[in-house]
Amino acid sequence: MKKITIKNPLDMHLHLRDEQMLKVVAPLSSQNFSGAIIMPNLVPPVTSIKELKNYKNRIKKAIGDDNFKPYMTLFFKDSYDYKFLKKAKKHITAIKLYPAGITTNSEGGVDNLDVESLKMTLDAMSELKIPLLVHGESDGFVMDRESEFAVVYETLAVSFPKLKIVMEHITTKTSADLLDKFPNLYATITLHHLYLILDDVAGGMLKPHLFCKPIAKRYEDRDALLNLALNAHPKVMFGSDSAPHPVDKKESCGCAAGVFTAPIALQALAQLFEQNKKLKNLQKFVSDNAIHIYEIKPRKKEITLVKKDYKVPSSYGDVVPMFAGESLSWSLEE
Ligand code: NCD
Ligand code: ZN
Repeated sequence: MKKITIKNPLDMHLHLRDEQMLKVVAPLSSQNFSGAIIMPNLVPPVTSIKELKNYKNRIKKAIGDDNFKPYMTLFFKDSYDYKFLKKAKKHITAIKLYPAGITTNSEGGVDNLDVESLKMTLDAMSELKIPLLVHGESDGFVMDRESEFAVVYETLAVSFPKLKIVMEHITTKTSADLLDKFPNLYATITLHHLYLILDDVAGGMLKPHLFCKPIAKRYEDRDALLNLALNAHPKVMFGSDSAPHPVDKKESCGCAAGVFTAPIALQALAQLFEQNKKLKNLQKFVSDNAIHIYEIKPRKKEITLVKKDYKVPSSYGDVVPMFAGESLSWSLEE
């Protein structure tokens, strides 16, 4: 049987939530991955070292003995100064910036993206070598939000040349093209944006479990993402943006944004890379590139996938995953 072993798989953008949801979803990542960048958009968001340490402890409790490292992040505030960040540095891997109100639990995000208002914090982050992770969407027309944000990425990249900036969950050719223009811009790409275009979400009957921010875009956008991921462009990393919501928040009037992919991500990536005859690049996309970009030493862990049909469960607790009830052509080795 055809097999592939991935060394130290990493998920560079993950929502683990809290309380009961954390208990359900954390083991589904910690079993399959060596580590993950943990998003700070709890309610309220993680903005102090104390909250961050407590959250990390709750994550550790939820994953039990699994060999998995949570790489913690703070929720960006333009009031973080050098003194605070110097103390925070040993507890965090990065800081995540959300424009205010742009996605799930981002109400406390940044109102003003001017360089002047961000300067104190971003200068300190540059000096302390703390990467900035960005949810890059404007508040414009939904299909144009990410392309409209390109000017912000360009301005940040030029104004803070020593700052590593990760464009999170890119969905457009416009963002893909920025990677080769600015040395300090990097990107994560999700599983679902490699599979979906807008038509899969809203072209027929509406699919709430495929609704997320940023929304899936056009064929040419997906092609640009596939080109980066399948060829393991060195500035691109896998970040699932696995974002669980309880079924009643998804199948409702006012559907929450987020696609839940953590437990099926490696299987679905193996399927996609094999179909495109690029299986040899999967290791770079789900681990090596991230290790170089973030300069981290991940926990040692090997995950073997086998070419054997895997029927995706219809739910995990009260969360419905992508591909629920469907078959994938790769499974995790038992
Ligand atoms: C994420 C969530 O649910 O926390 N939702 C999403 O649609 N991706 C937030 C985010 O990453 O935008
Ligand atoms: Zn996210």
